[in-house]
Amino acid sequence: MRVFWLTFLVQIALCYCQYRYGPDRLWRITNPNDLKSKELWFHDGQRTLYDKLATPPNQYVAKNIIFFLGDGMSVPTVTASRIYEGQLRGIIGERNRLSFEKFNYVGLSKTYCADRQVPDSACTATAYLSGIKANYVTVGVSADVEVNQCAAAKLPENRVSSIASWALRARKSAGLVTTTRVTHASPAGLYAHSANRDFESDADIAADTTVTNPADCSDIAKQLIEGDIGKRLRVVLGGGTSKFLPTTSVDENGNPGERADGRNLINEWTSGKPGISRYVYNRTGLLGTNLRRTDYLLGLFAPSHMPYSLDNPVNTPTLSEMTEAAIGVLSKDPNGFFLFVEGGRIDHAHHDTKAAKALDETVHFSNAVRRALELTNPWETLIVVSADHAHTMTISGYPLINNPITGLNSELSDVDGLPYAVLSYANGPHPELFYPSTGRIPPVLDGKDALYPHPVPMTEETHEGSDVAVYANGPWAHLFTGVYEQSALPHLMGYAACIGPGITFCDLQPKSRYNPLI
Ligand SMILES: *[C@@H]1O[C@H](CO)[C@@H](O)[C@H](O)[C@H]1NC(C)=O
Ligand SMILES: [Zn+2]
Repeated sequence: MRVFWLTFLVQIALCYCQYRYGPDRLWRITNPNDLKSKELWFHDGQRTLYDKLATPPNQYVAKNIIFFLGDGMSVPTVTASRIYEGQLRGIIGERNRLSFEKFNYVGLSKTYCADRQVPDSACTATAYLSGIKANYVTVGVSADVEVNQCAAAKLPENRVSSIASWALRARKSAGLVTTTRVTHASPAGLYAHSANRDFESDADIAADTTVTNPADCSDIAKQLIEGDIGKRLRVVLGGGTSKFLPTTSVDENGNPGERADGRNLINEWTSGKPGISRYVYNRTGLLGTNLRRTDYLLGLFAPSHMPYSLDNPVNTPTLSEMTEAAIGVLSKDPNGFFLFVEGGRIDHAHHDTKAAKALDETVHFSNAVRRALELTNPWETLIVVSADHAHTMTISGYPLINNPITGLNSELSDVDGLPYAVLSYANGPHPELFYPSTGRIPPVLDGKDALYPHPVPMTEETHEGSDVAVYANGPWAHLFTGVYEQSALPHLMGYAACIGPGITFCDLQPKSRYNPLI
């Protein structure tokens, strides 16, 4: 007994020493003056080197893949969000790291789509989930399909197969989690083929007067419930009841449906599953679900997108909670799983130029990644974190260290002497709020001294065309370094997990190299 207590006290002391003097202290700096210490930077550099040297490439088979997608999570969004999170924790935000920034392997993905320099979330979903670049606004189809050409989208040769279908074909389970409607462009890339991302319900198709033959179009909600891939997804969690219910009925929270065909796709989903299926519509229901005894889980927590975390929603689960539930259901499959998790509202907040919400959603996205890391084993689970496209938000000026990231710059404009914000956008709604004048002067783009436009009025702030980062951890994470097309991502993931139509690790290696843990 005495030995037990002695060991216990030694453990506590070790924990404390680790906390007080261990390497993590380098990231828990609270005094800005510490950043002036040359010892700090020496130890920081040595620590980084040590971490690299201590990480041999992981060449096991990825039994599971979790792909985290921060919609619109540009590199400046990641930087600003790490500062935001650090400042909330009371440490020097610039030194903070989001969960996935601790991954050892990072690359850059080129996001343009087949016909646009700056992409949308539909053509990019096609690229990062199916490995083929598509046209703007189209999803799950090749670039032979132009927007709204539903007849072309029906042709099998124009339909591309997603990594979810590769996983299912390899007898793994697949699922999706998002904070948007589950029929929104990014998750639709897993299971739908549509000449227009906006065709989420039959009412959406009818509302588009430019569609020549609406009968050729199949709405995305219907494809989720009865499509080859959609109906086999084990987990579907997010928002969007309105796309599944007829106008004649309301969901459990009293919100009406919008379908004109009279179908109740939620009822069809629950009644049509082999095994135990459960439908939940609030946080209590999700957290109370016995995941061990659930084969299929559908959770729709809002009529449209799920609310922003900063709006303090009542009884809706967080992205971490949904991710945990999804892993709970999917990890029962002895063959492994593919899970797609989207932090979908980073993008929406940016479109509204509401930067604080974009940063806050990014922190919640990072929390979900952390939860997934805690619940899985890095020797068998590949976790890839990326974004579909960038946004125009910048971090500008020369604010002092520890300047509140969502606040005003410590410096004034050296031209008009007025304050300005640290974060700003290239365009967006109502620029007159910031630039009241009789009119905007168009830029004259004549050579090396040309002045480029700033705050351009747009209904919504737009996407931006820079590369986005890819962070990877687990088997074959080292493949994700370098600069490559976004459409290469599923090829790399497929190789690691031995799924998909391309070359895989299992094609090339003898059995002895297989993961002994599987
Ligand atoms: C939440 O959902 C459960 C069913 O999953 C239900 O029993 C409960 O009444 C719901 N709670 C609220 C506040 O709507
Ligand atoms: Zn967007």
